[in-house]
Amino acid sequence: MRSLIDISDLSAKEIDELIETANDIIENPKKYSEILHGKKIATLFFEPSTRTRLSFEAAMYELGGNVLGFSEAASSSTSKGESLIDTIRVVSCYADIIAMRHPKEGSALVAAMNASVPIINAGDGGHNHPTQTLADLLTIKREKGRFDNLTIGLCGDLKFGRTVHSLINAMSRYENVKFVLISPDELVLPEYIKDDVIIKNGIEFEETDDLEKAIPKLDILYMTRVQQERFFNEEDYVRLKDTYILDMNKLSGGKEDMIVMHPLPRVNEIAVEVDNDKRACYFKQVLNGKYIRMALILKLLEVKPK
Ligand code: NCD
Repeated sequence: MRSLIDISDLSAKEIDELIETANDIIENPKKYSEILHGKKIATLFFEPSTRTRLSFEAAMYELGGNVLGFSEAASSSTSKGESLIDTIRVVSCYADIIAMRHPKEGSALVAAMNASVPIINAGDGGHNHPTQTLADLLTIKREKGRFDNLTIGLCGDLKFGRTVHSLINAMSRYENVKFVLISPDELVLPEYIKDDVIIKNGIEFEETDDLEKAIPKLDILYMTRVQQERFFNEEDYVRLKDTYILDMNKLSGGKEDMIVMHPLPRVNEIAVEVDNDKRACYFKQVLNGKYIRMALILKLLEVKPK
């Protein structure tokens, strides 16, 4: 039985296979529409979510399966003091697969060690968010046609942004990928990711706080929200939240075929006027997220179309 806790749990070949399945689902949805009849996914969200939870649920319904779960810790027995391990053991009796989000780093791994069904990490604190990365990878493949020879700018909260951490992990495997890390000093990428992933793999990277200067060299610009919920004080958040705002003026310095990505929700990081530019891909990421989660659920349940 497999779980997905960290994006590196999947080999590059397995990621290619998931993308192939997602593309097949996009082209032949009928082939998959009843494939998980009688199966259930539990979505256990101890932290708020719109896209991730709903996309797992939409994914399961589109595969003909069913959904149970909760969308906040307050509506589960956690509020009575139940441990995560007990909750997972209980839900393992009801569901065939579990997607969970939790504010504590490492919680999904603990869950996987105690579950009798596959666990999908839908975000563990400021640590990882592998299924957002799968959505990002499908988007990159469909929009740019490749994973190699790309200069990727990651902008905003690189310290707490778990989608950034997982994406760097995934992209570090490909040839001639370069990272431009754009953040204020207080929100730089954690040293452990810089050392253990970027430097260890011999990947070229630079760090800057200047978005406008960085834009012209990028093939992909990945914007992120400053993660308010992980700050220890409101003052710091207020001071940093609007450090970067991508508007048409700044975007005009970018390549014609650059793509702009964002895991969403956005606050002010991307002006609404950018939405109509052909380079804006963040709503495509949302849709791709549903298809790649369908592919992932099928893989973890070891179900293939006839
Ligand atoms: C991200 C997350 O939860 O980490 N959202 C998402 O799942 N698409 C990004 C964020 O909350 O800023």
